[in-house]
Amino acid sequence: MELKGKLAVVTGAGNGIGLGLAKRFAAEGARVVVSDISPELTERAAAAVGGPARAVDVGKAKDLHDFIAWVEADVGPIDLYCANPAIFSGPEGGNFQTTEETWELSWQVNVMSHIRAAKQLVPLMMARGGGYFLQTLSAAALITGPSAVAYTVTKHAGLGFAEWLVINYGDKGIKVSCLCPTAVQTRDNQFDPATTMGANIGLVQTPEEVADITVKGLAAERFLILPNPAVGGSFRKKAEDYDAWLQRSITRMKDFRPPSPFV
Ligand SMILES: NC(=O)c1ccc[n+]([C@@H]2O[C@H](COP(=O)([O-])OP(=O)(O)OC[C@H]3O[C@@H](n4cnc5c(N)ncnc54)[C@H](O)[C@@H]3O)[C@@H](O)[C@H]2O)c1
Repeated sequence: MELKGKLAVVTGAGNGIGLGLAKRFAAEGARVVVSDISPELTERAAAAVGGPARAVDVGKAKDLHDFIAWVEADVGPIDLYCANPAIFSGPEGGNFQTTEETWELSWQVNVMSHIRAAKQLVPLMMARGGGYFLQTLSAAALITGPSAVAYTVTKHAGLGFAEWLVINYGDKGIKVSCLCPTAVQTRDNQFDPATTMGANIGLVQTPEEVADITVKGLAAERFLILPNPAVGGSFRKKAEDYDAWLQRSITRMKDFRPPSPFV
């Protein structure tokens, strides 16, 4: 997809990867609508990008519907919709300690928001010849790693939905890319080497690097956009011998894992 002249919507654009994408899409010549759950961060992003803006919690079905309807009616037809924010639970506080509330929130934000946006936009996009969805997932959608259980499971579900979407609507002009980063420095102390995770994380990228790789992935209309090239190799090895991959992962996870609540 050529971004110049297109209308792009970036949700969760107040910080991190979403802000990096919004700024870069604007620099490529797209008109960018920015949105975040936080009104203050939405305003900050709007000031950085220069486009229309409105705060929305994508995890709330009616609010998300009204937001998309507002963009379509008052700003213009959406060419590229980026479902970007996610609930990240853990790893240090997660796994079987994950509460029902965190599970529910993770489903709403990490999965249902993608499904609801597509359900609303696909008929509109099809009627005008096509449209594009960029789903920010994670390497955790492809390869189960040190992330907490609710995050891992819902990111896999996000990938399942993205595959379903392109398989069922790809012949009707609907295009989908899944951005699957590993570690991106979006907040202070996020990969603090003093933590189990931080000490073992490996390559850490910036939102700007991820945005650059995303723009190239969108230009090539690649389904999987992998900022860390090692992820593609791991995914391939997993598919080639699932059992060997599981055994390697059991050993490797000892470097990352916080103490189990069961021991
Ligand atoms: N940072 C990483 O290392 C990393 C790695 C892999 C995948 N990802 C994925 O990238 C995406 C963005 O992560 P990030 O690190 O840039 O996060 P971030 O916390 O830096 O920014 C996320 C933004 O989304 C907003 N937000 C949170 N909940 C929202 C909601 N319900 N509705 C609307 N906005 C909401 C926040 O206010 C924040 O401004 C997520 O899907 C995450 O899973 C991040």
